[in-house]
Amino acid sequence: MTALRTQLGPLELTSPLVLAPMAGYTDFPMRRLACRYGAGLVFSEMLSGEGTRRRNPKTFQIARFTPEERPIILQYFAVEPQMAADVAKVLEELEPDGLDLNFGCPVKKIVQYSGGAALLKDVPLMAKIVEAAVKATSLPVSVKIRAGWDSQSVNAVEAARAAEESGACWITIHARTRSEFYAGAAHWEWIGEVKQNVSIPVIGNGDVKEANDAVELRNQTGCDAVMIGRGAMGYPFIFREANALLSGAEPVPPTPVERFEAAREQLGLMIELYVEERAVRHFRKHAIGYLRGLPSSAVVKAKVLRLPEASQVLETLEKYFTALPDKPTPRSGAVFEQAPVWG
Ligand SMILES: Cc1cc2nc3c(=O)[nH]c(=O)nc-3n(C[C@H](O)[C@H](O)[C@H](O)COP(=O)(O)O)c2cc1C
Repeated sequence: MTALRTQLGPLELTSPLVLAPMAGYTDFPMRRLACRYGAGLVFSEMLSGEGTRRRNPKTFQIARFTPEERPIILQYFAVEPQMAADVAKVLEELEPDGLDLNFGCPVKKIVQYSGGAALLKDVPLMAKIVEAAVKATSLPVSVKIRAGWDSQSVNAVEAARAAEESGACWITIHARTRSEFYAGAAHWEWIGEVKQNVSIPVIGNGDVKEANDAVELRNQTGCDAVMIGRGAMGYPFIFREANALLSGAEPVPPTPVERFEAAREQLGLMIELYVEERAVRHFRKHAIGYLRGLPSSAVVKAKVLRLPEASQVLETLEKYFTALPDKPTPRSGAVFEQAPVWG
């Protein structure tokens, strides 16, 4: 697997595939599964700058991680330099492998508070925020941006250069503007443009739905690493499949039993993290991914979405998956029908 080794600033990764930060999804169970199946780097859900600074217990629960998830980046948003510095110091105590500043979140509540993608409208302030975080910590600091605020103001190259000059170790670009939210196809050409205009590593992101897309994205843009978000929901196997393709091997899709085992492990870890009732509720959105594209899965899905207890969910899934033919079954069907509001 040496072909997969990737240097990202000071971090040496075993794979160029990165699990995206996704609020409400990339908790430690999802990250652990992603690592198990071959992600070279994982990101936390976005942490609130203010909540972290005040050491809010809820924020700290989101920041919790385990050694199996390393290397792990804790992501947060800050609206001014002092906040960025204070939060960097607090998060440093948790000893992650790096910190990431979010300049891509399109959510109204965040941009109205001048956070996330709103900073793309004020690149000098964004640069000061990056600089303050870099000065405050010895950890690598990276940034995640969108391509700009809207189609009239695409400024990914300007923002990326400013981040580099301010000391960012690498940059992730989600190739859409804030106004696009998740509509339409990601504009991968913008990732290529950023790559050609900075010297720090670039992680490309947007619309990697299948393993093949990861290879395509890297080939088309020359990006150093590829970030996968929605494509990994209920399907950690995308990392294994894409790693195989990147190293010139044949990807092996999971068997139904393998899918069940991964789902069972994820739910078990979620019960460790949350109370059972909350774990079962949160697990439902992941279960949809585990079932997607399989024969007659709609009936099971409808059932799993109603069941209140973990044992009932597991029993239903086990019965379904073990009745399917025991052979590798590729995922099929639209991956992105959920309408996310974040990122
Ligand atoms: C439910 C959801 C939550 C997200 N939360 C975050 C977040 O906390 N921080 C962030 O930088 N991006 C967030 N994003 C954006 C993703 O990291 C990623 O940029 C986006 O989904 C595009 O990648 P994909 O096409 O592979 O999903 C979120 C996306 C989704 C769908």
